[in-house]
Amino acid sequence: MTNNTKNPPIDRIDGRMKVTGGAKYFADFELPNTSYCVIVGSEIAKGAITSLDTKKAQGAPGVLGVFTHQNMPPIPGWDAPVGGEADGPAPKPKTEETYRILSSPKILFDGQPIAIVVADTYERAIYAASLVKATYTKQAARTDLQKHVSEGVAPRGADGGNYLRGTADGYKTAPVTLEANYTIPVEVHNPMELHGILAHWTGDKQLLIYAKTQGVNATQNAMAQAFKIDPKNIHVHTEFMGGGFGMGLRTWPQETAVVAIARKIGRPLKLVMNRSQMFTLVGHRPTTVQTINMGADQDGKLIGIAHAATAETARYEDFTEATVNMTKFMYACPNVSTRYRIVRLDRSVPIWMRGPGEATGAFALESAMDEMAHKLNLDPIEFRLRNYSETDPERNRPYSSKNLKEAYQRGADAIGWKERKNQPGSTRDGDWLIGYGMSTGVFSAFRWEASARALLKADGSLTIQSAVTDIGPGTGTALTMIAHNVLGVPMNRIKIEYGDTSLPKAPTQGGSAIVSAVGSAVFDACTGIKNELMELALKAGAPLAGRQADELTLADGVLSVSTDSGKKVSVSDLMQANKLTVIDKTKDSKGSPEQEKYSMYSFSVHFVQVRVNPLTGVVRVSKAVSVADSGRIVSPKTAASQMIGGVAGGIGMALTEEAVIDHRFGRFVNNNLADYHVAVHADVPAIETIMIDKPDPIINPMGAKGMGEIALIGFAGAVANAVFNATGQRVRDLPITPDKLL
Ligand code: MOS
Repeated sequence: MTNNTKNPPIDRIDGRMKVTGGAKYFADFELPNTSYCVIVGSEIAKGAITSLDTKKAQGAPGVLGVFTHQNMPPIPGWDAPVGGEADGPAPKPKTEETYRILSSPKILFDGQPIAIVVADTYERAIYAASLVKATYTKQAARTDLQKHVSEGVAPRGADGGNYLRGTADGYKTAPVTLEANYTIPVEVHNPMELHGILAHWTGDKQLLIYAKTQGVNATQNAMAQAFKIDPKNIHVHTEFMGGGFGMGLRTWPQETAVVAIARKIGRPLKLVMNRSQMFTLVGHRPTTVQTINMGADQDGKLIGIAHAATAETARYEDFTEATVNMTKFMYACPNVSTRYRIVRLDRSVPIWMRGPGEATGAFALESAMDEMAHKLNLDPIEFRLRNYSETDPERNRPYSSKNLKEAYQRGADAIGWKERKNQPGSTRDGDWLIGYGMSTGVFSAFRWEASARALLKADGSLTIQSAVTDIGPGTGTALTMIAHNVLGVPMNRIKIEYGDTSLPKAPTQGGSAIVSAVGSAVFDACTGIKNELMELALKAGAPLAGRQADELTLADGVLSVSTDSGKKVSVSDLMQANKLTVIDKTKDSKGSPEQEKYSMYSFSVHFVQVRVNPLTGVVRVSKAVSVADSGRIVSPKTAASQMIGGVAGGIGMALTEEAVIDHRFGRFVNNNLADYHVAVHADVPAIETIMIDKPDPIINPMGAKGMGEIALIGFAGAVANAVFNATGQRVRDLPITPDKLL
């Protein structure tokens, strides 16, 4: 592949399967004799079960078992208390409470499983679950971060995001200063596909799993550890996933419980959680309170930034995320300090969600940048350009690539930024106030270790294999494009097999890292095939003997000499002459130590135009332009779709998404998709996406950096900034609901 060539936009290779029902999601799989289970959740947020009446449920039609803390089969690898221990071998610091599913009468959060009811049909399991009755002793639960924010502590075993460059209070010496608090509520992933698992023991040590996981190898390892069996004897399949957004980045305790119960009852067992359980049992974006102090001089040069964040976590696990990280390097500012704290509440544990950490942090930092630009009477883009970091000020090293200035310019042109008046409230269209806002987004560009296998057959067809799961972005399409670019095999002759532990190991899909990680392995495996073909063609007596490898091109199944059009040999002739039916290469690929000399990030810029009705407080996003600077775009069409999806999520984060807790009960009051408002079609305008599409020379042979997370990161800030520009009202508390503007 040459980095200088832009890739064409191609349709998703799995698009037809997805829209015709051909794609099978975990719950679509049925095994002979499958049984079904339903989780009964606690009705209190803190305390203990005093009595649990399961008799009626036991006697209900079709019931195969009711499992509670009194009769839960043991999970042998859970000798250590369960926090994230089921996730993998990394030791977790000891916590004040332990949460081991169905192991004790103690209740640590609302909705905590108190029973799992198993029946021969799903409907019978639901009915029997309704018959389980519990009584409790209740204790006062602390679930309100706002009330307890002063109790923030450093996470165990982490540095708390503490960072200092220059002096911590450098901002105080500046002629223009700003202090502002920003909050975000609980947001939940809630992809369309519900969470769950289908588990089947085919022997005492043989386990088959259909899961909703972002990493089949991660689930395999978690179960191997929990059940003390060899991972080789565990087969996990997740080819299709109806959205993840981070909720499938770990193995949840209820999944492990289902596997344990399946073994006990000796039948395949399926769990599909209900929508309300999606709010409490598979993580969420944590409520976070942030304070930004900022100082600048009259010329618009930043003098200091202090960024402090406090987020909720559970009592039984210290969840942390990179909320303050962006502030450390985003702008060339001599004095920067950051701090991250957690407050342990009587709540279930959070997990990474769409642009984890940075999405929260960028809302604060990029709102504050807009506020400061206003104080300085500067255009917000101009203010950012005056503080542009050409090299990474946190680590004192170059960026592997950064085309953010071009991104600012192209986005500004596309949205019509020149229409924006710096004076808020100065543009009207009838009853509506018009405003423009922008924000920067950034996320680490990773390259994790991954492996892939490529098999070229003599008939010219190619098969690519990797265990990686596609949670929705179109991973298969991107990997196919990479293989096509290396080997010149037509796209429709390439078959991709993924999402299964029988295939070469791959990392969990997350962190915008898969094209970079697995794509590199595919690139290497295909390059291995290409090199072998060239050796065969060039060796003594072969059709292209005497030529040099760098003279050859490979396209459409033919190796030819670029300087001599008559000299060529087809791949199939070459393979037949060498009695090869297949060329089969597996490659393991990872980044090089050379990359340590660079800071690798993907950048984005989001621009929005909003219309605000001052009488009703309604905010409409009327235009959105999002620009990605994420290296070479491998698959432009799926990349644009991913960007559009991120923006739709960003509109939800900005305007509607909030899981509301009734703190009297520690319980969500809107734990359904009717009352928890994700952006729908009517909320989302046509979204323009712009790809800078310049290869990163450092990260991998494709020059491709990740682009999943940056589609969302920063977007909410752009909306808040546009609302300010429209109205002069600064909303620092997401979501920007009408009441906050009246
Ligand atoms: Mo993403 S939050 O890494 O699934």
